[in-house]
Amino acid sequence: MDGASFRAPVPWFPLPARLAILLSGRGSNFEVLATACARGELPAQIVLVLSDRGDAAGLAKARAMGLPTQLETRRAGEPRTAHEERLAGHLETAGADLICLAGFMRVLSPALVSRFERRIVNVHPSLLPAFPGLEAQKQAFEHGVAVAGATVHLVDAGTDTGPIAGQEAVPVLAGDDVAALAARILSVEHRLYPATLGRLLAGGWSVVGRRLEFPS
Ligand code: GAR
Repeated sequence: MDGASFRAPVPWFPLPARLAILLSGRGSNFEVLATACARGELPAQIVLVLSDRGDAAGLAKARAMGLPTQLETRRAGEPRTAHEERLAGHLETAGADLICLAGFMRVLSPALVSRFERRIVNVHPSLLPAFPGLEAQKQAFEHGVAVAGATVHLVDAGTDTGPIAGQEAVPVLAGDDVAALAARILSVEHRLYPATLGRLLAGGWSVVGRRLEFPS
């Protein structure tokens, strides 16, 4: 996306927007988004919850909520492209406007990202561009940073490198361990993710180079 310039229409999509959620685990961010949609706090409806793991607690929660779900595991020895082709097929069949990664622990290929350009959003438990990738909270803790955080960003072809849409700092406190810090970051994610999605869905923002700028 470097060097690209883009202005989102107002609103970005016909509202309510159709959201797909991709998850691999616990699903607490998914639950927060689902609650915000159900309460009308987000102008969106969840049209698909897609998991790559059958044991994901988030998948069970989505089923219990009566939402449309799909399990799509990557088969043994299967090329990533074949798995991603099935993921993309589910997203397109569901007519998803916007794809929200919520603890989806796979890096999407540039081909998949370009198929849904600027329509994939991720939440990451660090102050990006610091600590991309796995175990961001552990990376931050082990570096002894004084300030950690959470980021919501558009997904581009890199790993956690896309334009930042929302970010909030989280202090590292004396006596913290990784679990305590991760819990403090998670509670910020739960506020930041729906709030940032709301701003994105309203539209009118621009991407200029690496920067995402909201209307003032
Ligand atoms: C969250 O902390 C999210 O930021 C992180 O996984 C956790 C999922 O929790 N995502 C990443 O690290 C992606 N690189 P949840 O399943 O309870 O929402």
